Amino acid sequence: MNKLNFLCSAILLAGCGGNQQPVTATAETTTAIAAGLLPNPDSFRDTVDGLTTGLYFLHNGNLTAAITNYGARVVSLIVPDRNGNPTDVVLGYDSIGKYIHQPDTYFGAIVGRYGNRIGQAKFKLNGKEYTLYKNNGPNTLHGGKKGFDAVVWTARKLDTATLRLTYLSKDGEEGYPGNLNVTVIYTLDSNGLRIDYDATTDKPTVLNLTNHSYFNLNGQGSGTINNHLLQLYADHYTPVDSTLIPTGKVEPVAGTPFDFTKPTTIGGRVDDTANQQIKFGKGYDHNFMLLNSIADEPSNLPAAIATGDLSGIVMSVYTDQPGIQFYGGNFMAGTNPLKAGKTDGYRTAFCLETQHFPNSPNEPSFPSTTLKAGEKYVSWTFFKFSTK
Ligand code: GAL
Repeated sequence: MNKLNFLCSAILLAGCGGNQQPVTATAETTTAIAAGLLPNPDSFRDTVDGLTTGLYFLHNGNLTAAITNYGARVVSLIVPDRNGNPTDVVLGYDSIGKYIHQPDTYFGAIVGRYGNRIGQAKFKLNGKEYTLYKNNGPNTLHGGKKGFDAVVWTARKLDTATLRLTYLSKDGEEGYPGNLNVTVIYTLDSNGLRIDYDATTDKPTVLNLTNHSYFNLNGQGSGTINNHLLQLYADHYTPVDSTLIPTGKVEPVAGTPFDFTKPTTIGGRVDDTANQQIKFGKGYDHNFMLLNSIADEPSNLPAAIATGDLSGIVMSVYTDQPGIQFYGGNFMAGTNPLKAGKTDGYRTAFCLETQHFPNSPNEPSFPSTTLKAGEKYVSWTFFKFSTK
């Protein structure tokens, strides 16, 4: 049995039975853990805010995911490289304690209630002003002081490949109006990870949910992502001010370092500080307007395709969202101890956060992020893997 098949059968055993609680590691899982392919679920068992945390394994074909209900975070995502070697393509930690004590990275998390930034940490809805927590200079970022990344979700394994997570964000939490019931379903298909979101509220509110996985398609902790190829299906992006709030303008990417309409290395133009937007972002940290969402007819265009230069792993991102935040790891400082004894570092991962545009609640020209009582918010994103 090769390493990958071995891992898969180990996880199949560990993941059976639709358990509500994290499974106990089987002998096979323990061996996979000892081989450094998966974190130990025992290290994720804890009580946070009076609620139980754990680690859940999903398995389908050659793919394996580990997800914790703390922040609904993708901890591991193991896919085969071009030689069939299992490769963990997301950055993460090997224990719940590290997620709690190194919170600023948002590794693998569902971010909300409003992912990305809201300018001046306030917005008006139906004539009333709401004040939020300033955790990013003058702005609020990724839900505020304690966003959805830092709360314990209720998890239920629906089958070996599906995990449902739910969270009730109470009226007034982090300053946002309305009791918001959120459901996130992670489904591991045979060729990728699908994320389905839905939410309802009992008062009008604003909402922007995304997954904040940090990808390195050569394997987490394997150095720079600057030689990855990236293609973004976006002709326009939303430039920002010096605090990374969109100016409200929409600019073409053509002729700028933001033109990823053809596969291009991430690092080729990332330090082109003659470009003011690159300067403001300290590299790439911008929202791109997805062609799929502005096409006259719905199309099956991806949002993005990224390729690991060393592994040959190709990740194609599909979504129903209008934008994608491409963040190139400019704030990474090499201070985070990753799984399997690896460390992170400056620009050693990238995020492709499918979402609505930053600061939409204050920018009427952007697609609306308002959710009314009685309406249902529904959204999906699919990260599909192949090799070349
Ligand atoms: C990104 C954001 C970056 C940075 C990062 C977390 O979503 O665009 O500016 O805050 O999250 O470090």
